[in-house]
Amino acid sequence: MVKLIGSRKLNTAVFISGRGSNLKFLIKYAKKKTSPIEIILVISSNKFAKGLSYAKINKINFLSINYKNKSSAENKILKLLQKKQVKLICLAGFMKILSKKFIGKFEGKILNIHPSLLPKYKGLKTHQRVMDNNEKYSGSTVHLVNNRLDSGKIILQKKIKILKNDNPASLKKRILKIEHEIYPKAINKLLFNY
Ligand code: GRF
Repeated sequence: MVKLIGSRKLNTAVFISGRGSNLKFLIKYAKKKTSPIEIILVISSNKFAKGLSYAKINKINFLSINYKNKSSAENKILKLLQKKQVKLICLAGFMKILSKKFIGKFEGKILNIHPSLLPKYKGLKTHQRVMDNNEKYSGSTVHLVNNRLDSGKIILQKKIKILKNDNPASLKKRILKIEHEIYPKAINKLLFNY
């Protein structure tokens, strides 16, 4: 369980692999006086990730990790998280699967955002699969991370209607917009229970 101590903001790390638009909105949220988190570290599995620019602009420490050897990559990350006393991890487009060992060290303290109405459409290519199945609705889910892919406890979910002229690309765009809205809300819900 993640616990707030007094009025101190919670040291938070965001893990990315690419564009980083969720990171951008998490940074915006964390900067608010009323926000319970401070983003003190950004980890990227890709040194060319566009999202790293948000860490640079906002003067947040960042580290891009070579993931060729997963266990040594994770050990490096774990050391840094410990050194920086990170208490909450937000995965935001992080394209690597964390090991059991890693998750065990941060149980109940790792959030992920997924672009579907979980438990439906776990994994990749969600929008294409949603459209192929003629679903009426899709959306996004923020959930805790456990050892099974996209299967941890759901914290917050938002649903949108699929429009007649939607295609996977337009759906992706509309869902990304609601992701930026629900990730901060999910953190509030996790930490303040609202
Ligand atoms: C988001 O759609 C998120 O749900 C998924 O990866 C995408 C990341 O987008 N896990 P961004 O890098 O935050 O722009």
